[in-house]
Amino acid sequence: MSELVLPGLADVHTHLRVPGGEHKEDFQTGTAAALAGGITTILAMPNTSPPLATPEIIHATYEQAQAGTRCELGLFAGASPEHIEHLPALAPYAVALKIYLNDTFGSLRVEDVPTLMACFRTWPREKMIAMHAEKQSVAVGIGLATAFDRPVHFCHISRREEIELIATAKAHGLPITCEVTPHHLYLTQEDAARLGALGDMRPVLGTKSDVAALWEHINDTIDCVATDHAPHTLAEKASEKVPPGVPGLETSLALLLTAVHHNRLTLDRLIELMASNPRRIYGLAEPPDTKVVVEMAPYTLSNEGLQTKCGWTPFAGMEVVGRVKEVVLRGKVVMENGRILAAPGSGTVLV
Ligand code: NCD
Ligand code: ZN
Ligand code: ZN
Repeated sequence: MSELVLPGLADVHTHLRVPGGEHKEDFQTGTAAALAGGITTILAMPNTSPPLATPEIIHATYEQAQAGTRCELGLFAGASPEHIEHLPALAPYAVALKIYLNDTFGSLRVEDVPTLMACFRTWPREKMIAMHAEKQSVAVGIGLATAFDRPVHFCHISRREEIELIATAKAHGLPITCEVTPHHLYLTQEDAARLGALGDMRPVLGTKSDVAALWEHINDTIDCVATDHAPHTLAEKASEKVPPGVPGLETSLALLLTAVHHNRLTLDRLIELMASNPRRIYGLAEPPDTKVVVEMAPYTLSNEGLQTKCGWTPFAGMEVVGRVKEVVLRGKVVMENGRILAAPGSGTVLV
């Protein structure tokens, strides 16, 4: 069976649930899941409870991240109208700012122009602004990037209309970038019907045409693949009020390597999408002496043996090619044949 050696991957969209959701995931389990998936650098989202929108909360979370992380990890600060005057004070603890323009899990939302203007005026120019923007909200984000002449990164783009709008804006030289998730590349509304609550996430799974559009743009418009690892417990998924979101850290590399195996993607492009581009967008240095060793063997994804605290994957039963055998981070073997060797707190918190 052939072996591949890849750089440490960077996943710029994860939810590690600290504070307030530690029964779903925490820094120790989430970063173990990252290493199991060949990912050595992750960025964690601020839609926690309470959210990472005040200096006290983000500072305390930064310290918990330092104590718990097994890999490289950076936090997002969250934009919220109630705390908007604190934005510059959040920056020392965060890699980037996240703005939620549409409905999703958690309380963070920005729906008024004065708050959006304050974000673009007061967030440090050298740090990225990322957006959860769906449908026409993408146009709002492009407008703000243009008006303030500063970069905007669009999270989990999933619809044909969105990727085509972004392609048009990029053709005009506007400073925007975007990510897509493995679940939007691999699953459709038909899978949502089969999976029920386990297939519910924001943005919702798309039509066949939406999925086809993402693959059409995989070699140009799309800058990176990010998991949007959004763990919720099976009990929560079985409840009346289903929280949207699916885990993804331990399955994304295998899914994308399967596309390489089927000649839908080159290995060079996979490395751009999962390592070099995400680091370039967020200004993250590549860790030295770091590698991921993969065996290009076929196997079936399953809920057994996962590191994520939620213990399930929407891809259970799917045949893939590409198993992570070993991960070396900064000269140390941190994962070997499914065993996590990096201790909590041995990683680094990036800002
Ligand atoms: C995310 C979550 O659970 O925090 N859920 C989701 O469906 N993607 C929030 C988000 O990324 O929008
Ligand atoms: Zn989102
Ligand atoms: Zn998310």
